[in-house]
Amino acid sequence: MRLCIFVANMQDMNAINEGSRKEVMTYLEPFMLNEMSEYLKPVEEMWQPADFLPDAARDSFFQEVKDLQGSARELPYDLVAVLIGDTLTEEALPTYESWLTMVEDVEKNEQGGWMRWVRAWTAEENRHGDLLNKYLYLSGRVNMREFEYSTQYLIKDGFDIGTGRDPYRNFVYTSFQELATNVSHRRVASLAKKSGDRLLSKMCGVIASDEARHAKAYMSFITHAVKVDASEVLIAFEDMMRKKIVMPAQFLRESGEPQGEAFSHFSDAAQRLGVYTALDYVDILKDLLKEWQVDSLKDLNDAGEKARDYLMRLPDRLLRIAERMKMPEKTHNFKWIYS
Ligand SMILES: [Fe+2]
Ligand SMILES: [Fe+2]
Repeated sequence: MRLCIFVANMQDMNAINEGSRKEVMTYLEPFMLNEMSEYLKPVEEMWQPADFLPDAARDSFFQEVKDLQGSARELPYDLVAVLIGDTLTEEALPTYESWLTMVEDVEKNEQGGWMRWVRAWTAEENRHGDLLNKYLYLSGRVNMREFEYSTQYLIKDGFDIGTGRDPYRNFVYTSFQELATNVSHRRVASLAKKSGDRLLSKMCGVIASDEARHAKAYMSFITHAVKVDASEVLIAFEDMMRKKIVMPAQFLRESGEPQGEAFSHFSDAAQRLGVYTALDYVDILKDLLKEWQVDSLKDLNDAGEKARDYLMRLPDRLLRIAERMKMPEKTHNFKWIYS
């Protein structure tokens, strides 16, 4: 039944009026339902945090924790800082879920495509914070009270990412962000491996592959929207890039410090380690331009053409800026990390 609606919508797609988000989102909804299984795995097949962590019921528990702490002790300071920042970003999941449910022009029926997607996506994401949080706790390197204080504040502060409630801006943002988290977890995985922490490396690796699947899903939502409303999608994309894609943990703080300050120390550490840099930002933009075939889209209106021109020129402009950027040198002493 759903499949029939999808096929019918495919045939009708030319009839969708340019600029009508509601019609496009109605067209997308069956796709979200039908294709969900391609991008989200059945719960039964998923890894769970317990697959990686010492089991307190086992006699070997204390030895396993000791081993975990032994490798964690060798992790470089900046890497621990980045890992904590990544974990805090994952722990602010309630912010992202509530934001996704606020998107306009999407049918908000509990069993509708959009709400089912949001719930299933949230359920997968929830494992990321769970796993990393437990690792940090067991590692013995983290002041958990300071960490939890920052988590509570980050959720309380929310974020301001400039998408409004617009589905196109939202999907551009989520496509970008899922790719960025994939890069960041993947790099932490390889640095952890280099430092000898194979368990942490495995954990970050499996999280990174979840993020890659999620990125594909959000990118495909835009791919479908582009087929029926290309100019409006490009205008939304241009607007998001002009505002710059800010990170979801932009307001991250430590106790007694102003809002956002811990985030800038965290992103400095990520730059220094090469976990997430200005060059990665440009690479992600290039990937999105390629994925949505922006340079070869046809029949754009004037504003759509202008948006395309801006977007196609942007990577080179950003590269020139990135080349002039200085590497942040000073390591900050985080309250999250025991010295
Ligand atoms: Fe995640
Ligand atoms: Fe994600």
